[in-house]
Amino acid sequence: MKNIVLFASGSGSNVENIVQYFQENSEVNISAVLTNKTQAQVLDRCNRLNINGLYFNRNAFYETDCVLDIVKTFNPDLIVLAGFLWKVPKNLIANFPNKIVNIHPALLPKYGGKGMYGNNVHEAVRANNETETGITIHYVNENYDEGAVIRQVKTSVLATDTPETIAHKVHELEYEYFPKVIEELLRGE
Ligand code: GAR
Repeated sequence: MKNIVLFASGSGSNVENIVQYFQENSEVNISAVLTNKTQAQVLDRCNRLNINGLYFNRNAFYETDCVLDIVKTFNPDLIVLAGFLWKVPKNLIANFPNKIVNIHPALLPKYGGKGMYGNNVHEAVRANNETETGITIHYVNENYDEGAVIRQVKTSVLATDTPETIAHKVHELEYEYFPKVIEELLRGE
């Protein structure tokens, strides 16, 4: 049995998609979803999907080993950041080398770094008249959006696209590719 621990900060549509993808797979267990937001919609999804949903605050994350200890109890094969917006602290990175992966809604190194998340990214892509954007799945290190790239997938940006239509295209790529890449990583491919 392979265990996945998910981290999310917002809506959690990727979390739901990943949970559904692995629902029929008896070899993969979604151990828990951890969130830094009490109001995050992802907690409602956890309730509906019957998945452990756990909240932690800034102090627990950055000043103690509390979150690390909780994650360790699940013995994760992979820690997946699915719309998680806080920088991951050293204690987690040191304890789970090459086991923490993130998805970013752009073609890194473009449109990465602090403040570049969700719709901010798509608005910047539109404002700069980019002709393509996409997703980047990468390992997590101590700097935002800088770990080694695992997979990038592109989509075109048309002159008629708005930040909303770009977001839609990017989400579609996320739903299609993120669970598959997670599955490959769990298989050691
Ligand atoms: C996703 O598009 C993900 O790529 C992005 O947040 C969104 C979360 O959506 N992540 C980042 O911007 C990380 N810097 P969701 O909560 O509906 O899955």
